[in-house]
Amino acid sequence: MSQQDPVTLMKQYVGKAAADRVQSGTIVGLGTGSTTAYAIQYIGERLQSGELKDIKGIPTSFQATVLAKQYGIPLTTLDEVDHIDIAIDGADEVDPHKNLIKGGGAAHTREKIVDSLAEVFIVVVDNSKLVERLGSTFLLPVEVIPMAMTPVMKALEKLGGKPTLRMGVKKAGPVVTDEGNLVIDVKFDVLENPAELEKEINNIPGVLDNGLFVGVADIILVGEVIDGQAKVREIL
Ligand code: 5RP
Repeated sequence: MSQQDPVTLMKQYVGKAAADRVQSGTIVGLGTGSTTAYAIQYIGERLQSGELKDIKGIPTSFQATVLAKQYGIPLTTLDEVDHIDIAIDGADEVDPHKNLIKGGGAAHTREKIVDSLAEVFIVVVDNSKLVERLGSTFLLPVEVIPMAMTPVMKALEKLGGKPTLRMGVKKAGPVVTDEGNLVIDVKFDVLENPAELEKEINNIPGVLDNGLFVGVADIILVGEVIDGQAKVREIL
């Protein structure tokens, strides 16, 4: 684990630290993104070694489903379980109140469903994700039904945002989410009240959900490299 660049190292350590908190016999929400991918890998390794037994995962995306299958984690659905014990997921920004911006992987709608149902939601980030104020480094993702794209963009402008349609990489045209929708990324010069803005945006007809996660996270695990040593810090 030591010959990696610092960001990869932080992601690996924090992913492992979260995976170590998963207990046998539990239902586990499996998040999306490059940091959570390490958590999924380590959960799979703990299962293979026999240290962990009888867990079931609920994936938040196609990516999480593929990784869980690759690492031998049995999956279930929200129709089959009545609770989620723990969810592990990444974030694009984390503020001092443990509020988040998510959706860098266009999976925030499913992520919010799974993460908010979990009894304990652990966020795994490297220290570059910590911000004083949400919206300072990352645009706010909004998932929208395709036919409502234009009116939703106009409504977001009325709320003071500058919306742009997220375009695909190595794919012509827009990003299409796992649910077949589009993502509008919105720049807000001042994002004063995340709780209020989260509700206001979700009230626009055609919006499925936005990437503001207010009051959802329980524990933030932060990967850091200090004097060449990878460490994990916990924010409760
Ligand atoms: C996907 C997400 C991711 O959790 C978020 O983008 C962080 O990803 P990474 O760990 O790759 O930085 O919200 O929709």
